[in-house]
Amino acid sequence: MAMSANPLLKDLAESINANVAALTTQLSKLDHAEPTFSNDGAPDYPQDPEVQRSRMAVASAALDLYHLSLGPSLFLRTQSFAAKFDTMVLEVLNEFKVFDAVPLDGSTSYSDIATMSNRIFAEKEPNSGRVIHTATSAAARSPRLQAWIGHNLNDMGKACAHMVDSLRIFGDGDGEPGRTAVALSMFPGRDPNYGFYSFLEDDDQGGEKGWRMKRFGEAMSFVPSGEGLEFKYILDGLDWGAFGEGVIVDVGGSIGHVSVAVASKFPSIKCIVQDFAALEPRFKESLPANMGDRVTFQAHDFFNEQPVKGANAYLFKHIFHNWSDKYRIRILRNIIPAMKKESSIVIVDTVVPPRGVVITVEERLVLGMDIQMAVAFNAKERSGQEWATLVKQADERLVVKNITMPPDGVFGVVEVGFQ
Ligand SMILES: C[S@@+](CC[C@H](N)C(=O)[O-])C[C@H]1O[C@@H](n2cnc3c(N)ncnc32)[C@H](O)[C@@H]1O
Repeated sequence: MAMSANPLLKDLAESINANVAALTTQLSKLDHAEPTFSNDGAPDYPQDPEVQRSRMAVASAALDLYHLSLGPSLFLRTQSFAAKFDTMVLEVLNEFKVFDAVPLDGSTSYSDIATMSNRIFAEKEPNSGRVIHTATSAAARSPRLQAWIGHNLNDMGKACAHMVDSLRIFGDGDGEPGRTAVALSMFPGRDPNYGFYSFLEDDDQGGEKGWRMKRFGEAMSFVPSGEGLEFKYILDGLDWGAFGEGVIVDVGGSIGHVSVAVASKFPSIKCIVQDFAALEPRFKESLPANMGDRVTFQAHDFFNEQPVKGANAYLFKHIFHNWSDKYRIRILRNIIPAMKKESSIVIVDTVVPPRGVVITVEERLVLGMDIQMAVAFNAKERSGQEWATLVKQADERLVVKNITMPPDGVFGVVEVGFQ
């Protein structure tokens, strides 16, 4: 059955059904076992033109079905974020002979295979030589999505190509941000503690100074448009209303998107966004006009003591996962002198679930985040238990009071306070 040029979900599912039925019949006639993920499965299909035709039809329709079922934005988000890890991980496994190191009757956790994307743009008519948008290329006109793709492919994608060299030269890099694949690719030869963020602050390569940091800020502000990452989970994950006319310090708050969401829902709360001074102009541009007196910006380096004393909450969204333990502890200890007895430290970050608990797409996201943290920072994602251990290591008096997770999601709100 010829596939239409613009298939729908149902057409693809029907094509997969029909071609899988043909394929299994052909295999059975040739007395060849069906493919399987188990380690005694045949490595190849039989060389038979009919089998070849059927299985390519299944694979092509499955690729399109995957694309359409994610939808344009999530497809682009996933391609730019996760696809690069497939080839990087394959290279790491190959270079370090992991295939030989795992015994055939042992176990392995590596299962995801990269998929190449297409249907970004289409030809107007066959042989017309004119290109038109598809829904996917049209979705990529969003500046925030472009920033996300740019950061993931241009910053992190290039770094992935240096992962093998980084592991050979630095090993785990002693948790230093300047002993990473990102360092080899973007700023080789700098001090061990000179990391991606130092580079963003200094960078003037390929554009006006600060363009790369601004792009990173835009990319971060795109994150909450993803399923399970929406602001509502941060807003519902904590009793923000209990802070009344309180003050929230959004540490490493980038261009202020999280604070704006909190201040919009809780009109009596005031937020102070702290980040590099270079982000202030973009913060000002994106701040809604009616928020000027409630969401303000303060240049602050979180490796110095927290200057805002006695805030109700010190919010760290996607901050700690960028740092190895020794740095995380330093960041936390810089908050403690500023805290009053009832202040909270609110961590919004990945809370790694046990393997197999969340659906594959979510699990792939956690693995991708974990790998991206290693590539860029020599850091990693943490489980609930690891968060509890970390805060205790920073200060014996600190405890995790509550963890709220979105349904089927992996990004939690971890509330920490004095015992
Ligand atoms: C992964 S982003 C998270 C941004 C924002 N909290 C969010 O979740 O969208 C990490 C942020 O930490 C900021 N950052 C990195 N090092 C910092 C430092 N030493 N002091 C203050 N901010 C820093 C970066 O500029 C960036 O905005």
